[in-house]
Amino acid sequence: MSDAIADGGALSALLQETRKFPPPDGFAAKAVAGPEIYAEAAADPVAWWAEQAKGLQWETPWDQVLDWDVPFARWFVGGRLNASVNCVDRHVAAGHGDRVAFHWVGEPEGDTRTITYDDLLEMVSKAANALVELGVQAEDRVAIYLPMIPEAVVAMLACARLGAPHSVIFGGFSAEALAGRILDLDARVVITADGGFRRGAPSGLKVNVDEALEQCPAVRTVLVVRRTGQDVGWQDGRDLWWHEVVDRQSPSHTPEAFDAEQPLYIMYTSGTTAKPKGILHTTGGYLTHVATTHRLVFDVKPDQDIFWTAADVGWVTGHSYIVYGPLANGTTSIMYEGLPDAGGRDRWWRIVEEYKVSILYTAPTTIRTLMKWGEEHLAKHDLSSLRLLGSVGEPINPEAWMWYRTNVGGGRCPIVDTWWQTETGGIMITPLPGVTTTKPGAAVTPFPGIGVDIVDNDGVSVGNGQGGYLLLTDPWPGMLRGIWGDPERYRDTYWSRFEGKYFAGDGAKRDDDGDLWLLGRIDDVMNVSGHRISTTEIEHALVGHPAVVEAAVVGASDPTTGQAVVAFVTVKGEGVDGEAGKALVDDLRAHVAKVIGPIAKPRQILLSPELPKTRSGKIMRRLLRDVAEHRDLGDVTTLLDPTVVNMIDTQMRESGGTDEEG
Ligand code: WT7
Repeated sequence: MSDAIADGGALSALLQETRKFPPPDGFAAKAVAGPEIYAEAAADPVAWWAEQAKGLQWETPWDQVLDWDVPFARWFVGGRLNASVNCVDRHVAAGHGDRVAFHWVGEPEGDTRTITYDDLLEMVSKAANALVELGVQAEDRVAIYLPMIPEAVVAMLACARLGAPHSVIFGGFSAEALAGRILDLDARVVITADGGFRRGAPSGLKVNVDEALEQCPAVRTVLVVRRTGQDVGWQDGRDLWWHEVVDRQSPSHTPEAFDAEQPLYIMYTSGTTAKPKGILHTTGGYLTHVATTHRLVFDVKPDQDIFWTAADVGWVTGHSYIVYGPLANGTTSIMYEGLPDAGGRDRWWRIVEEYKVSILYTAPTTIRTLMKWGEEHLAKHDLSSLRLLGSVGEPINPEAWMWYRTNVGGGRCPIVDTWWQTETGGIMITPLPGVTTTKPGAAVTPFPGIGVDIVDNDGVSVGNGQGGYLLLTDPWPGMLRGIWGDPERYRDTYWSRFEGKYFAGDGAKRDDDGDLWLLGRIDDVMNVSGHRISTTEIEHALVGHPAVVEAAVVGASDPTTGQAVVAFVTVKGEGVDGEAGKALVDDLRAHVAKVIGPIAKPRQILLSPELPKTRSGKIMRRLLRDVAEHRDLGDVTTLLDPTVVNMIDTQMRESGGTDEEG
């Protein structure tokens, strides 16, 4: 374990001066839950979760709450339900059909749609009927590659309605990355759009699908939503317009109930190897987890709140807290298509003011960007509707936390810093508003019913004040059920490092009050602008370039994006410098964007004749990270050739470290 993790890093100093914010009054969580919620859940977590699951609509109740054969869990065994019914039909049946499900705000000014639960039911039913016509059946995987438009949610719910697991692939992934996922899923149907809007300019999505499908002959149908109106390539017999197929369908569809363990979706995420993992989530447990956490963590009042998760549905945050959690609770959400500064740096605040947003959930990287843009953009707008703020995706630095509280929350809104992962399905560590005392930078405490431990290398629990590996000690309803097509990898990755416990890959510590702080990843996974990116995956992409011999990628800390991708590359022949070197660096960055996607593009690439290695031949990534962050190099005597490092370090300093623009 690195020293930075073991001693809690720079946090120790910070903690000395940490301020505490007691829970304010006026939050329902206190009334419905109260501090005793923790004791109740801890007394019998499985029974507590079963109590929560009763909030869903089950066609057949379960016989057994949990079947736990480490590491394989089945929750609500024998129970049957339909996720789409739980998110849509039952709210209409309860008389809430005219409640708004989504205030959708497109990136172009004035491009908005209001979708009620009645509307959503009709849209989902038509889409489900269309998928049936296209031959989609339960168990079939459907790939979704869409921008942030209502059809993305509709497509997901239509799949769920049919028991066909969807796999949403973020629009920022390249054709190649898309092809890899479609092949791994063996999907036969892809739902996409002609494109999306990104700062005014239409981006291509269909064009990437066309390129990807050259490698995926099994795909028989591509359903294309018209969003931008741009010209797209067309393959007759395979490609169909959404509006031509979906709009003419019957607005009613009779849903079927599925087993609680019916696969609901597969979401790819990066791990420590070059191949992304298809994280499998199922229906009953997942819905229970996201509905419960959404209700309690965000103190949601479905008839009053305007809830906004400012994330993309292409990530798990969007799945759980734009789609499944909020809809299961019958909430009104904002769905915003664009970037935070599309149409001006006050775009978000205009949305908050216009729609009277009461709960805002976003990532620290965005908060830091908003901070950089300055308070004047907020000052122009009435943000008094906000009553609760959330953070997710990476550790939030205390400065950003305080800025968020003061400037966005007007000093009155509690902040919930929520730790979780694609694998956990829903929030795992978080304060509860109205219940928990918060501290800037701390995620504070496990959600009720969740078991957490922090251990050293030998799996022994560490005391307060000491850092260690974060483990989840008990099964939870939203947990991943496996890695698509690879049960052994599931066991190896998460459950074997510490026998029978879930190894999260994060460092953590408890402070002297016993409150939890997250210390970042301890493996080869980077967190760049809240996007999870594997160093190995980028190295693999770089080595695939004909000029490259060897590559090492590290995540260097960055004031805005949290971490930034820095690559050290050795090239064939004599090496290249000057103009040729610059051209090669540009080419390599474009190559990474092509293989993985623009989000993985290194901020900086350093060409070097050799990489620093230990005597046993391992690349010294820790040292490269220090170089990338301009830290002192310390002892380099275990290196094969210390001059290599000194040379790289000099080159790095000369290049100024941040010369490349993302
Ligand atoms: C990794 C999971 C959770 C949905 C979005 C990211 C980091 C996430 C926090 C937080 C500190 C956090 C962890 C985790 N992370 N939330 N509140 N504080 N770190 O999901 O892409 O699966 O990434 O994000 O390192 O392991 P993901």
